[in-house]
Amino acid sequence: MDRTRRTLLLVTTLLAAFSCGKDDSPERPDITVPVKEEGTSSSGTGESGNDGNLSLGDLAALQGIKLGAAFTYGEYTGNKQIAEILTTEFKAVTFGNEMKHDAIVKTSGQMDFTTADKMAGWAEQAGTELFGHVLGWHSQQQKFWLDTVINQAKADSSTSPEEAVDAEFKRYVYAMVEHFDVYAWDVVNETFADGGNGAFRTAATTQAGDHVFVWGSYYSSTKEWVDRAFQYATEACKEYGKSPILYINDYNLETDAGKRKGLCDYAKGNPQVTGVATQMHIDMSTYNLKDKIKETLTALVATGKMVRIAELDIKATDLDAQAELYRYIFEQYLSIVPAEQRGGITFWGINDKDSWVGEYNHPLLWSGANYDKKPAYDAIYAYLSELAGN
Ligand code: XIL
Repeated sequence: MDRTRRTLLLVTTLLAAFSCGKDDSPERPDITVPVKEEGTSSSGTGESGNDGNLSLGDLAALQGIKLGAAFTYGEYTGNKQIAEILTTEFKAVTFGNEMKHDAIVKTSGQMDFTTADKMAGWAEQAGTELFGHVLGWHSQQQKFWLDTVINQAKADSSTSPEEAVDAEFKRYVYAMVEHFDVYAWDVVNETFADGGNGAFRTAATTQAGDHVFVWGSYYSSTKEWVDRAFQYATEACKEYGKSPILYINDYNLETDAGKRKGLCDYAKGNPQVTGVATQMHIDMSTYNLKDKIKETLTALVATGKMVRIAELDIKATDLDAQAELYRYIFEQYLSIVPAEQRGGITFWGINDKDSWVGEYNHPLLWSGANYDKKPAYDAIYAYLSELAGN
């Protein structure tokens, strides 16, 4: 681009930044407005610009929070804005689906890392670390292959279906740990029953659609399967010279006190668990939500393990109230979780339009085709800027 054109673009961008900015946007310290190349959007990471300025992820890092976002292959493909946002705003990424059992293991039992590896390459290009989601889950398993394993065992008297499933689980955990270089793993995900007063979920009560809990049907208890998951993950890490944090992760810990206690008690009793996480898929309309968030973080911290908010999103109708709640979550995380226990905060997605809970729930920090920053983004940015002394 020639000099005149660059100057013209800079002036236009500056004018746009100062005339279109929201009145209630927080003051951004030392803003350097980036010169955008032709054809790129001036919103999203553009006009409120972070080039030459601290990003959300930089500001969070100053407080010892590794800030992450989940994205999927489909969301990223052909979409420059996602790449730009990951590069600019985040320090860590999780794949929405592509490291799950049914994505990696084919119906033949072969493991195919092609898609996940491509995404890991994008993550590296963006300068982000990789989070591993997930080794043991009742959902999104490659049931066809597991059924083959079970049927083969039934036909072959030398091994039982239970032994065959366990061997298959171990093979999978070892292969995943060996293959991916991640800073942490969700070793197990969603292993506690809803309203079960802290009991593990069972295969018998988890049998609808995608949620056929194959693993759970072939161990003497779900607890035994969870024990094996941490054992295999720990052993595999040792074998392959890796040392990620090993998390147990669940949803509704804010609203289901029994489940929260079940998870924390299990974590306390198993030294191979080095991290505890709440997904924190929450809804603004939940009664007494703020207290519940506080109670949950406090209980997680009391386990003595690393504490992570793993899949943050907030269903909301009032975007300003949502922004205030997002800020509150960051405030509470920093005030309750000691620096040495901060495992980070990851949002489950980037743009409302791609969220798994639906655009109409407005759950995330960006929205629309132009990737506009929402009040939630500005509120977190303003809070972290204040802490940085700006
Ligand atoms: C969700 C993905 O976002 C969807 O694309 C998929 O259809 C279902 O799974 N808890 C988890 C995540 O641990 O893996 C889930 O991700 C959301 C709930």
